[in-house]
Amino acid sequence: MAAIEIKPDVYWIGVNDRTSDLFEGLWPITQEGISYNAYFINDQHKAIIDLTKSFKADEFFGQIDEVADISQLDYIIINHMEPDHTGVVNLIRKIAPRATILGTEKTVQMLKDFFGITEKVQAIKDGQTLSLGKRTLRFFYTPFVHWPETMMTYETSHGILFSCDGFGGYGALRGAIFDDECKDFDFYQREALRYYANIVARFSRNVLSAIDKLKAISISIVAPSHGLIWREQPGRIIELYEQWARYATGQAEAGITLIYGSMYGNTETMMNAVAQGISRTGIPLEIFDAARSHASYILPSLWRKQGVVVGAPTYEVTLFPPVAHVLDIAVHKGVRNKKAAFFGSYGWSGGAQGEFKKIVEPATWEVADSFEFIGAPTKEDLKKGEEFGAAFAERIKSG
Ligand code: FEO
Repeated sequence: MAAIEIKPDVYWIGVNDRTSDLFEGLWPITQEGISYNAYFINDQHKAIIDLTKSFKADEFFGQIDEVADISQLDYIIINHMEPDHTGVVNLIRKIAPRATILGTEKTVQMLKDFFGITEKVQAIKDGQTLSLGKRTLRFFYTPFVHWPETMMTYETSHGILFSCDGFGGYGALRGAIFDDECKDFDFYQREALRYYANIVARFSRNVLSAIDKLKAISISIVAPSHGLIWREQPGRIIELYEQWARYATGQAEAGITLIYGSMYGNTETMMNAVAQGISRTGIPLEIFDAARSHASYILPSLWRKQGVVVGAPTYEVTLFPPVAHVLDIAVHKGVRNKKAAFFGSYGWSGGAQGEFKKIVEPATWEVADSFEFIGAPTKEDLKKGEEFGAAFAERIKSG
């Protein structure tokens, strides 16, 4: 995509990544892609805000060439050191040798650790301003949104917040870069939640602190480094992030995520009975086969919904590994304060239920009634499963 002027002399110079299968080497983006948004301000002093991943160098420098002579660059502003935004930093220094890199103190250290860069680097203070000529930038420390060195950059005359990972989402840009031009709004909102649950959720407390801090400024445009630029409804993505961040410690939405695994269909048969019971109550329900769904796609449901039902057989005296894996990641990502229930089949000795509790109880999941059955479920077992699902759903509905 060509560079796009978002306000006079302020340009989006981002690139789409439709090639990487995994973001952070972990989270699938094969179908959705991702954008690495960067920005250029063509003032008396020329500044670039955030960069891109190394393999996108040619495309990225092509974007800059459209709007400016990069060799004349004065400032490289690094909001966040993760290499999806800094991969070309050594290269750009060679092309723009007079540019000074600006970032937080931790960024200065990380530039040395990640790229061996120590010269023409300047640490900025929280709240510090920088005049580019007609325009002024102000920097806000926003630690752990997403790494400890992270900050956001605010352009004061147009009220543009360059928020980097904050308020970002998965999803390559499909021609339109602004929320008001976008025809796939549901896609970007869904992918923003998946990104939040995968990347940012563990730092929800820091997200809330950052949002609190930003209440002191007037924001007309939210320009993150992944996903849509929010100029029609800048408050919308901030509100969504705030809502999602509050789920880390507070009550989530009435709804149930059902995660199951099944080796020969017995736990799956019971899962269908439990799902029937849940559905009877009308409560929203999402079902995931842990062996076939990447945790990336399960986490958003776990994050938003108050209830979790896990169905898993005993496998070699412990919890079926694909289910254990999803739960481990969920706990690591800070999925807490859930109401949960468990069911599963075993052949000769149990073990899954105990392991399930061992994984989730430290994360303050309140485990309600659970049951296990031997081998294939009987008609009576299935009836019990349906009632079990309905009773659990009623508990979630009543809050
Ligand atoms: Fe987009 Fe934390 O990097």
